[in-house]
Amino acid sequence: MGHPGEDNSRWAIPGRRRRLRSDQDQQPPTLTSQTQLDRLPGYETHRMVHRAENPRRSGRLFPVAAARRKEHRWKGGQHDVETWSWHVDRPAWVSGLVCWHSAGVDDYLAINRANWDERAPAHADSPDYGFDQFLNDLGHLSGVVRFDRPRLGDLTGLRAVHLQCHIGTDTVSLARLGATMSALDFSAAALHQARRLATGTGSTIDFRQAEVYDAVEVFGRESFDLVYTGIGALIWLPDVARWARVVADLLRPGGRLFIREGHPMLFTLDETTSPPSLRYPYFETTEPLIFDEPGTYVETETTFTHGLTHEWNHGLGETITALLEAGMRLTGLTEHDSVPWQALPGHMTTDETGEWRLTHHPERLAASYTLQAVKQ
Ligand SMILES: C[S@@+](CC[C@H](N)C(=O)[O-])C[C@H]1O[C@@H](n2cnc3c(N)ncnc32)[C@H](O)[C@@H]1O
Repeated sequence: MGHPGEDNSRWAIPGRRRRLRSDQDQQPPTLTSQTQLDRLPGYETHRMVHRAENPRRSGRLFPVAAARRKEHRWKGGQHDVETWSWHVDRPAWVSGLVCWHSAGVDDYLAINRANWDERAPAHADSPDYGFDQFLNDLGHLSGVVRFDRPRLGDLTGLRAVHLQCHIGTDTVSLARLGATMSALDFSAAALHQARRLATGTGSTIDFRQAEVYDAVEVFGRESFDLVYTGIGALIWLPDVARWARVVADLLRPGGRLFIREGHPMLFTLDETTSPPSLRYPYFETTEPLIFDEPGTYVETETTFTHGLTHEWNHGLGETITALLEAGMRLTGLTEHDSVPWQALPGHMTTDETGEWRLTHHPERLAASYTLQAVKQ
């Protein structure tokens, strides 16, 4: 059992990835892409961080969605770009943040879902997610679940829900460890692949399509002994306190949250510099970090068109405080020097289990964490 290397080429976290796979050109331009707009003559990219007079975030730096707004048209082979100023008050710091339009928080679900819908079939087809290994070996577990198996303990008979289950490899793994699994994701395309995997492997799993914040309406209050999530889940959510309340509401008293997640310290780093440098917010910001990087983190020939994503970092203290305030008791917190994907391409080395850590001085970076909490 066990297939070392299965997850080895999960590199770069969704939303923290740069141009992947030889900076492939997207043709024709979609006119919704920073990548393309950057190439236009006369185009001026605005990368600003704004110290806002926001009553909730007073005194903090957070990214402005757009310092300037751009109107752009595609005219028979030529771009015609117009720009006009947007009010920006006291810009505080110039950053490399990709931000070219003001989609706003309200649009994040549609924008991110389009991105994930497009990625799901490519992920399922990729050897990196190992569908064939699950189908051919009924004892096979994902590398992510294998990593935490000692901390997970005995799952036999537990009613568990996997939030943001993606294409179901971790979900099926938890079912194989004896849990009765439900799972949720907002991507219909991801769930199509997850159901296909479950059916093919003889796993009975209740998959539901919904936004994570609606999970209680979908499954009911106090329905689970275990909430499992992570590996690039929280960065898609604007409000970690709201997420923590959802987790607490899903659990019966005494039920447990288990999350292994990329460390917020890791997500502050810009891997395009050597050594990686501090670039992105550590703390949760009101406005999203907006990235536009066509491609994904598995090997694939697929051409992607929905590279735009809206993401948020959440400080470890913010996440823990959110859970405590939601009525959870912290029962375990382990910070790891490794992650199950190549989060900082060019700066990390993998081991035989598929974990990646800094090639030089791995002790300098908390790359991921496993957190457990119990509902009081
Ligand atoms: C990186 S994956 C999570 C890791 C996953 N366990 C895996 O196998 O790699 C992120 C998942 O979150 C889902 N997602 C993102 N935002 C969401 C939201 N607001 N509600 C529900 N699902 C969401 C995406 O569709 C995607 O499947």
